[in-house]
Amino acid sequence: MSEATGKKAVLELDGKKIELPIYSGTLGPDVIDVKDVLASGHFTFDPGFMATASCESKITFIDGDKGVLLHRGYPIDQLATQASYLETCYLLLNGELPTAEQKANFEQIVREHTMVHDQVSRFYNGFRRDAHPMAIMVGVVGALSAFYHNNLDIEDVNHREITAIRLIAKIPTLAAWSYKYTVGQPFVYPRNDLSYAENFLYMLFSTPADRDYKVDPVLAKAMDRIFTLHADHEQNASTSTVRLAGSTGANPYACIAAGISALWGPAHGGANEAVLKMLDEIGSVDNVAEFMEKVKRKEVKLMGFGHRVYKNFDPRAKVMKQTCDEVLAALGINDPQLELAMELERIALNDPYFVERKLYPNVDFYSGIILKAIGIPTEMFTVIFALARTVGWISHWIEMHSGPYKIGRPRQLYTGETQRDIKG
Ligand code: SDX
Repeated sequence: MSEATGKKAVLELDGKKIELPIYSGTLGPDVIDVKDVLASGHFTFDPGFMATASCESKITFIDGDKGVLLHRGYPIDQLATQASYLETCYLLLNGELPTAEQKANFEQIVREHTMVHDQVSRFYNGFRRDAHPMAIMVGVVGALSAFYHNNLDIEDVNHREITAIRLIAKIPTLAAWSYKYTVGQPFVYPRNDLSYAENFLYMLFSTPADRDYKVDPVLAKAMDRIFTLHADHEQNASTSTVRLAGSTGANPYACIAAGISALWGPAHGGANEAVLKMLDEIGSVDNVAEFMEKVKRKEVKLMGFGHRVYKNFDPRAKVMKQTCDEVLAALGINDPQLELAMELERIALNDPYFVERKLYPNVDFYSGIILKAIGIPTEMFTVIFALARTVGWISHWIEMHSGPYKIGRPRQLYTGETQRDIKG
């Protein structure tokens, strides 16, 4: 719980003083409670929420200056290298890492919910085969609410819990099918004898003709780690979207579909796909200098660089780069795009333009190179991000509904026409 510090900020307005309470959390900056500003007839103004804490949360902490990311207090590099994605899911949902028994039970209950109602598979047929898989995911995940009428009481903790399990368990199946549909291959159903990441890669790449298809354990381990690195990230744009949608009482599937929509943008989760497109456009190391000049002229952005919060290295990018090296070495791949990405990073980290703006590689800069090495097509990169982030979204949705909350309803600075009449 936040602690009232007893300290107050004093706002002087039109000769009057407004005392605004200051609260402290366990980590990070104190916050100033500004709701009493309204009584003065003013709104606060913070487009892009650069300095706004929208809620109180115990799930994830980020220190952007130090490049720190904690999930329920555990550093992301420890979770990514010492825990599985499902252990991280359990941690985000329950606040503690699971015991061996709790882990086994959680894995089992997730395994029991990986199938989807067979009618769901009919939704895919409404899309053109060349539909972007994110368009399919927005539609299909939002439609899931139509299949669980009896478990949509958002005030019921049991309904919230089974919804979290269903979403975590089914999202890989729906994601794999969004790929299969676009390549015209039959849907592959999940198997109970495979781990979470193995199952996803199995549904993605096996075909009925290849009954003995085996998932490479190196790729499964890398996939699981990539899921963990994308699991949650405080009040980012898509998580804030889920919370705002949830604050109206919308059902959780609709809220997650809203999160998927927000994530799709190239400034957010769509950046991993944009990084690969950028590397393709640059083509070779010889063209880097010219590309960087275009960036400085603000004609293009260096995708996979920069972050609203991190003004230092994104800790996920470090683990991602290490994983990239491991996967490419294990597969014996010498990907020229990795060399190109490393040259871009080297130049950016030494160029005043980027240094002055504190632009560092973010989680999306290297992820695409690993996903490509695993054999995942570029247009599936953001779907993978959405798959992994679903646990973060639903954890925040549950946290919001587990206590008092109000509908989110920002105001504005109106600069339009004053009242006028239609000319008779
Ligand atoms: C994710 O919020 C999260 O936590 C998100 C995320 C998560 O896990 O949920 O971490 C995932 O979305 C990571 C970010 C992925 N996006 C990209 O890689 C796209 C490229 N990055 C930029 O679009 C940008 O850096 C943002 C959107 C990520 C952050 O933008 P901000 O905080 O609004 O910063 P800004 O646009 O005000 O930039 C400050 C300056 C500007 O220059 P000046 O006006 O001061 O001259 O830095 C420049 C920007 O033009 N700048 C860049 C740049 N990012 C910022 N210039 C070139 N290339 C870039 N990538």
